[in-house]
Amino acid sequence: KEERRRKLFEINRITARYFYYNLMKNKKAYTYLRKRGLSTDTIKKFGLGYSNPNWDDLLNYLKNKGFSVKDIEEIGLVIERKSKTGYYDRFRDRVMFPIVNTKGNVIGFGGRVLDDSQPKYLNSPDSLIFSKGYNLYGLNIAKKHSRGKKIILVEGYMDVISLYNHGIKCCVASLGTAFTPEQAKLIKRYGNDFFICYDSDTAGLNAADKALDILKNAGVEAKVIILPKGKDPDEFIKEKGKEAFEKLIDEALSYIDYKIYLNKKKFNLDTVEGKIDFTKEIASIIKEANSPIEADVYINKVSRETGISIDAIKKEIYKNQANFK
Ligand code: UTP
Ligand code: MN
Ligand code: MN
Ligand code: MN
Ligand code: MN
Repeated sequence: KEERRRKLFEINRITARYFYYNLMKNKKAYTYLRKRGLSTDTIKKFGLGYSNPNWDDLLNYLKNKGFSVKDIEEIGLVIERKSKTGYYDRFRDRVMFPIVNTKGNVIGFGGRVLDDSQPKYLNSPDSLIFSKGYNLYGLNIAKKHSRGKKIILVEGYMDVISLYNHGIKCCVASLGTAFTPEQAKLIKRYGNDFFICYDSDTAGLNAADKALDILKNAGVEAKVIILPKGKDPDEFIKEKGKEAFEKLIDEALSYIDYKIYLNKKKFNLDTVEGKIDFTKEIASIIKEANSPIEADVYINKVSRETGISIDAIKKEIYKNQANFK
């Protein structure tokens, strides 16, 4: 079985090299990446590539190298035709992002269209050598730059790469699925200062909330970096630069601050009902604070935000706790 895995890694490695070689020859794809602001060094560092438009370009290339179609299919590089009369390439006419694990093996690929067609991204399916929920894009590179410290979790391939391109080299992304507890365990081994910086849209705000809880359950106190509405990290750093992004890192919200930030959006604090529901919601979160002092800071904050007395908020928080004085 180990022998088989080695063979599959080898196919992916040869494929990544082939995609890279294609990219260097394909003006359209290369220009696309350069126009998105990536330097030639960044393109090389992440081993970006291009899959040709033909239906069986990669298949023929790999067959000529002596690899078996069964192995090529196992890792999802080709798909069997419905008519069972042969196979075709999964990735065609896409910019390719090799996914490399911390041991340096190419475990899969993401591929992006060059225009607005759908689906925007295609990913390798899970296989003998690839489990999406157990790996993080960019960790192979981030682990060398986090100096055992900062790691920033972002949504997309392009966010990881674009931040790297601007000198923020400690970013990772989950692989087209929601962040998992296994991924939390994984990054815990490579850093000690964690940040989440998801897209500033409704999906991103809620996904960050979930990731924050998953990290907390894994014993990691992450902070959340807030981007201007509608932006993702790639768009922000391209527009505003590295210093502006570093300022956002410094201003990142702690666990409870992020919960307050989210719930302020959910409830209307101009109404009495909104204030009550907001305060109840936050009270249940402050209950989980690490220390009475920390709790006190947030109780004061909520009181200031809502005009509800500190005493009433404390009673709400500790109403079922016997030790409340
Ligand atoms: P986004 O839609 O935010 O993509 O999806 P993006 O990274 O900003 O893309 P660009 O800037 O337009 O190139 C974030 C991530 O979700 C996964 C990919 O991993 C992507 O990087 N995704 C997105 C998919 O797997 N499939 C899709 O069709 C879209
Ligand atoms: Mn998004
Ligand atoms: Mn998007
Ligand atoms: Mn983007
Ligand atoms: Mn995005």
